[in-house]
Amino acid sequence: MNKKIGILTSGGDCPGLNAIIRAVVKCASQKGWEVYGIPYGTEGFLRLEQKKCRSDDLKLREHGYDLPGILHGIDILQFLSGSILGSLSKGDPSNQAIAKTIIQGYKDLQLDALIAVGGDGSLDIIYDLAQQGQWNIIGIPKTIDNDVPFTQRSIGFRTAVDTVTSAVYDLTFTAASHDRTMVVQVMGRNAGHLALHSGIAGGADIILIPELTPTLDTELINNICLHIAQLRCSGRKFALIVIAEGVKNQAGEKEKYIADYLAQQIDEISHKLCLTGKPEFCNLDNIETRSTVLGHIQRSGTPSSYDRLLAATFAKKAIDLIAEENYNQLVVWQNGEVQIQPLDKVVAHIKQRHQLGVCPNPVNPDGFLVATARSLGIYLG
Ligand code: F6P
Repeated sequence: MNKKIGILTSGGDCPGLNAIIRAVVKCASQKGWEVYGIPYGTEGFLRLEQKKCRSDDLKLREHGYDLPGILHGIDILQFLSGSILGSLSKGDPSNQAIAKTIIQGYKDLQLDALIAVGGDGSLDIIYDLAQQGQWNIIGIPKTIDNDVPFTQRSIGFRTAVDTVTSAVYDLTFTAASHDRTMVVQVMGRNAGHLALHSGIAGGADIILIPELTPTLDTELINNICLHIAQLRCSGRKFALIVIAEGVKNQAGEKEKYIADYLAQQIDEISHKLCLTGKPEFCNLDNIETRSTVLGHIQRSGTPSSYDRLLAATFAKKAIDLIAEENYNQLVVWQNGEVQIQPLDKVVAHIKQRHQLGVCPNPVNPDGFLVATARSLGIYLG
């Protein structure tokens, strides 16, 4: 049976969103279905109702992005970062009037189903709307933070790991030239996946993630300085520190630039330790630190082959589920294959973790990756 489906991207963007949109349109076109791209997440439904856009303009065509002949048919969408649909990073489902209008937008478009590509926050919001409006929904996880629960991978994470790994590599040589300690601040919200993966792959000496070092207390900074002193003794005159943005300052507060804070703390404390005259600290006398905040560059970049592949498999599964009318599922990656998890279970878990103010899918402190980092001599706190 022919179907009319919608797709939207919601929350912070990440590499691979366009690859999903492309794959969804391709898989759906094979079945003769129509796909509508909802602009700026659920806000697109609002815009439709407010007559700020027309439903006909939202129809996605398999080769619609090849401006007449200019690209010679090159299928460029899967290589582009960002989202051609736009994404919305803040929603307001608590406003009943807005929620009602959004729900009406879905109805008026007469969709059979909606594919929502989102992170933990947006999946939570969209699922609530879907429940209220009785939408047929399929979720696809995306985020560079890799913090969506019940999936080992989310779209965009692996590309961000590559971006950060490459930045850490690039910083190695300038750090080495000046015998400096480089502190690199990595995104991830309250999760340390991005910092941990890229820190190991990039050859960091110290990796600080909220799951292992929630706050930068004095004892921790002392240990970091001791580790730097030991590195210097062993002949490595520079040090690379990767710190996740979710790590808090000594007072347990979030800092916008926690890398700056840490660099300053290392400067101060290493100087004090040096003055103690203890032999283990004597080579900390002229320590120089610099900080780099990578910022939104982590959300862009050409999607890696891994993310493009993940996007293709997630899209196919989403279309299969719609064909079977098996709705209210999140497509996930577990144990090397695509699987599904009921959205009610996923969202209940997200809500519960958010209420506790903790990450829905943190790094496992007893996991193999943490053990690997320690075995490599990386200091994790
Ligand atoms: O959730 C993705 C993410 O990039 C986080 O890693 C980061 O803390 C946040 O979004 C940044 O959000 P914004 O783009 O609103 O500054």
